[in-house]
Amino acid sequence: MNPQTDFIQKISKCVANDTFVRLTLSKNVDRSASLKKVLIKLALIKKELQYSFVYRHETQDITKNFSIKNGEAELEKIIGNEFWVANFFTTKRDFVFEKNKKGKINLREGKPTFPQKPDRQHDKDKTGLIQKATYLQELGILDDKNRVQKGKGDKYKQIKKFVEVIADLLRKNPQILANKLIGMNEQKSLRIVDMGSGKGYLTFALYDYLVNILNLQAKVTGVEIRENLIEICNEIAQNSKFENLHFEQGFIQGYELPKTDILIALHACDTATDEAIAKGIKADAQLIVCAPCCHKQIRKQIKDDSLLEPILNFGILKERQAEIVTDTIRALILESNGYKTKVFEFISMDHTGKNVMIVGQKRREAVDAKIYLDKVEELKKQFGIEFHYLEKLTSNI
Ligand SMILES: C[S@@+](CC[C@H](N)C(=O)[O-])C[C@H]1O[C@@H](n2cnc3c(N)ncnc32)[C@H](O)[C@@H]1O
Repeated sequence: MNPQTDFIQKISKCVANDTFVRLTLSKNVDRSASLKKVLIKLALIKKELQYSFVYRHETQDITKNFSIKNGEAELEKIIGNEFWVANFFTTKRDFVFEKNKKGKINLREGKPTFPQKPDRQHDKDKTGLIQKATYLQELGILDDKNRVQKGKGDKYKQIKKFVEVIADLLRKNPQILANKLIGMNEQKSLRIVDMGSGKGYLTFALYDYLVNILNLQAKVTGVEIRENLIEICNEIAQNSKFENLHFEQGFIQGYELPKTDILIALHACDTATDEAIAKGIKADAQLIVCAPCCHKQIRKQIKDDSLLEPILNFGILKERQAEIVTDTIRALILESNGYKTKVFEFISMDHTGKNVMIVGQKRREAVDAKIYLDKVEELKKQFGIEFHYLEKLTSNI
């Protein structure tokens, strides 16, 4: 039998005997096409088992659901014809189908990465980025019927928005994901550290998105001072079978950062944000994502005798001014260390006041640090600031 037909039949059999976990098609035959991958799962939609195809384009995802019969026809059309590679995960075995330009097909198999049957309930939010998984129930965001708990709506929106931001950043920086797909020959894990992970809402959602939606091999660590939170989070990670998600008790400043691809620090208090950014820069992280809070360090130093005296006389305006100056200097220091930096509001003020996000994306080319550091000096002079904490931490990098 033609190995292509044989592979499609294998997929049909696994649907019939309920061992199908997921199927990922990659390496588009047309390398210039915007469609990069197709991620396929089974889902119960209106009580009928269907194929759910996510067509992952450079800038957007398009989801289409097919009956089993039509889904198989679609698979027959695209596997080996539109995509060279198919990674097929079942609860019994993993299979890798590869076709080369000469039409030669190679089929390999190995131990199952996911021996557990996945939940077939079609329970993603409409963006497809968050699954209504049990961790959200255990964290108290959803009730046992997967409804958002009273008073948790803002947190749920924040989690979704955060995952959306990361999804967008990964799409714009595809080099970060190279060779990180589960089942690829050269398996390498994406390394992520969340500094000041708190109750772990974002850490869990990010892990679930990377591993269970994107099929990536990822190791995620949350670092947090509060021991009780570490215990709770590790227990929920275990219950969720999130094998490569761990929480460690410790201070950001003392944490030895291993090789890290993405560093996250959301709402880490005051200079803890600077500590996290400095660690990310030192670890050569490809992405540094932070949402600062309580900007006390600069506020204390800003002098009221400058041109801005009328503004700084008003407490709330001084606070806002201190936030702006603190985060501008953070952005400039990131730039001086070779990070293309964006500062934006990541969620509406209605959901949280701490809504400014600073994102640094590591540039490939070198930068002239002096251009940015001169601007830092100028700002400090204007506001009578002696030093910015991040400046101290990064002065010897
Ligand atoms: C406001 S919470 C944010 C939690 C989480 N990042 C989020 O956005 O949902 C800040 C967390 O950072 C922790 N934290 C603050 N300073 C820290 C430090 N220096 N080292 C480790 N954790 C820290 C706090 O204990 C707290 O749980």
